[in-house]
Amino acid sequence: MARRHYAFTTLLVVAVAVACLSFTDAKLTVNYYKKTCPRMEKIISEAVTSKQLSNPTTAAGTLRVFFHDCFVSGCDASTFISSNHFNKAERDADINLSLPGDAFDLITRVKSTLELECPGIVSCSDILALATRDLISMVGGPFYTVRLGRKDSLTSTASSTDGHLPLTNQTITEIIGVFQKNGFTVKELVALTGAHTIGFSHCKEYINRIHNYKHGGPNAFDPSMEPRYAKGLQAACAKWKEDPTIATFNDIMTPGKFDNLYFKNLERGLGLLATDQALFEDKRTKPIMQLYASNQTAFFNDFVYAMEKLSRFGVKTGRKGEVRRRCDAFNQIST
Ligand SMILES: *[C@@H]1O[C@H](CO)[C@@H](O)[C@H](O)[C@H]1NC(C)=O
Ligand SMILES: *[C@@H]1O[C@H](CO)[C@@H](O)[C@H](O)[C@H]1NC(C)=O
Ligand SMILES: *[C@@H]1O[C@H](CO)[C@@H](O)[C@H](O)[C@H]1NC(C)=O
Repeated sequence: MARRHYAFTTLLVVAVAVACLSFTDAKLTVNYYKKTCPRMEKIISEAVTSKQLSNPTTAAGTLRVFFHDCFVSGCDASTFISSNHFNKAERDADINLSLPGDAFDLITRVKSTLELECPGIVSCSDILALATRDLISMVGGPFYTVRLGRKDSLTSTASSTDGHLPLTNQTITEIIGVFQKNGFTVKELVALTGAHTIGFSHCKEYINRIHNYKHGGPNAFDPSMEPRYAKGLQAACAKWKEDPTIATFNDIMTPGKFDNLYFKNLERGLGLLATDQALFEDKRTKPIMQLYASNQTAFFNDFVYAMEKLSRFGVKTGRKGEVRRRCDAFNQIST
């Protein structure tokens, strides 16, 4: 009898597993939380608005966190996990200096509110995807549809970032390679780089362009830069070694507005990073950069397409993930 019962249980488990498998294959949907947490979008958009108004770099920071999260093992909130004694988490990989606190604060705040409204329902990865979309449109960028139903990751390791993120000291060929490895085209790479229209970077990421360029002395700067701009950056970064948090905007003309000025600036030597300028010189990327500089609608259309693709990248559904109760910790502490 006991054995029979066991067999029956096994069958049930198999049936459930098959059911889950088909659920896993289910696509993300726009109305995922319609019944379980109907006020979710409103709660997110109110929190986003107040955070962005009080802290204007939130949009740029959140967009960067979203990109980082998605490109490393999929859009699964693995970036939010804190390191512990047993595990060095993704957010503490080398590149983490540039992962800003505003975004983490915002998502944590939204999550706390949602846990009161509808506990255990809305995933951190869906919150991040929606908050990013809301912030982009709030600062003047295009609005796009975000499908929902992502689950949060069950792992997060610093080593998983290796080779998955573009670095500011890479060549264009290397950066194209990073995007291609994740299934993104050169055009999508350029469109996503347009996010620098609201971005900022730390001095260490461009100090080689403005200080002792090609060993030409302390004040030597990259001649492709507009001279007044280069001198302004030298002044801004004078104490960069003492204070590594000093940052400047990638789009110096309209840093708070999502527009195509980032592309136009590059035509005038007003690019911040060597990789920004190089994208404008490389024959694979230059025609796309020029198109976006001359036509904001073309940029917005391609950006929306690339963001929708990015938002679906490597998502986990069904039992491949969980809805975390806190965004910075797995529900079950594992060793
Ligand atoms: C990453 O951030 C942590 C603190 O959150 C810091 O201790 C660590 O040194 C940082 N890593 C690098 C390489 O900057
Ligand atoms: C580029 O930057 C990364 C991280 O900051 C560093 O580990 C790497 O050595 C650098 N590569 C070159 C060629 O400078
Ligand atoms: C700008 O791009 C859009 C979208 O590709 C296109 O429909 C429009 O005709 C372009 N405008 C100009 C002036 O080329």
